[in-house]
Amino acid sequence: MIRVAVSGALGRMGTTIGRIVDETPDLELVGGTDIREGTLFGKEVVPAAQIDAFLKEKKPDVLIDFTVAAAAVENIRAAARNNVALVVGTTGFSPEQVETIRSVVEGNVPAVISSNFSVGVNIFWELVRKAARELGDYDIEVTEAHHRYKKDAPSGTAKTILEILDQELGEREKVYGRVGATERKNEIGVHAVRGGDIVGDHTVLFAGNFECIEISHRAYDRAVFAQGAIRAARWVVGKDPRIYTMQDVLGI
Ligand SMILES: NC(=O)c1ccc[n+]([C@@H]2O[C@H](COP(=O)([O-])OP(=O)(O)OC[C@H]3O[C@@H](n4cnc5c(N)ncnc54)[C@H](O)[C@@H]3O)[C@@H](O)[C@H]2O)c1
Repeated sequence: MIRVAVSGALGRMGTTIGRIVDETPDLELVGGTDIREGTLFGKEVVPAAQIDAFLKEKKPDVLIDFTVAAAAVENIRAAARNNVALVVGTTGFSPEQVETIRSVVEGNVPAVISSNFSVGVNIFWELVRKAARELGDYDIEVTEAHHRYKKDAPSGTAKTILEILDQELGEREKVYGRVGATERKNEIGVHAVRGGDIVGDHTVLFAGNFECIEISHRAYDRAVFAQGAIRAARWVVGKDPRIYTMQDVLGI
């Protein structure tokens, strides 16, 4: 039985993860943390400030974090202090926060950290990599769409797309939206759309002369991220103390 705790337990992702863990026979939901107290499928949710006492008392094998960047850094510190493996889906980290997380995790605790836990998106990233290798002289535009409550832009998944493009093509200027007179050069255009309850859409356009290729992924339900995070949680328990990606979990 793997004991699972959730930080951000009362949020959209936290609730979805709680439901699936609660319904899964070989996983035990031990509760979670959020900014206010509450319950998650009958289990206690304690205020964020009490995370150390919570981890000591409930002794989870793994903490799954879907919160906001600053909160996630503190939750990662707490998990490392208490020897609890991590699955981190939170996005919007600054480069300094990424560096802090690296120093807290490496050598202390195993952690799967991914801007997107869907299996489909992990395959989509590989397709984008392959297209970039072959179509480096095409114009490239990245478009993403999310629900009206999303706190960061562009999405973590779009940032991962940009990292992949930089790895394959060398670093190119990014232009975030365009307004007024624009002259296209070698830049990569990045566009974020926000509205309604869109779960998460991403498209990479490769536009050449006489043809275009679009590679797209569309998530219909956040259960797809929750299932991936739970797959990562099963995988990460007992691994060596370092940072892993969802690609490591999937073996791709
Ligand atoms: N990696 C992925 O596959 C994936 C998928 C979906 C969302 N996300 C990311 O996950 C994060 C959460 O998304 P969401 O839609 O569930 O947001 P949400 O706003 O619905 O939920 C976040 C929750 O975190 C809580 N929180 C804030 N500070 C906290 C703290 N210090 N300790 C504990 N809880 C705290 C909030 O009160 C809220 O309930 C975002 O960064 C989002 O971009 C990642």
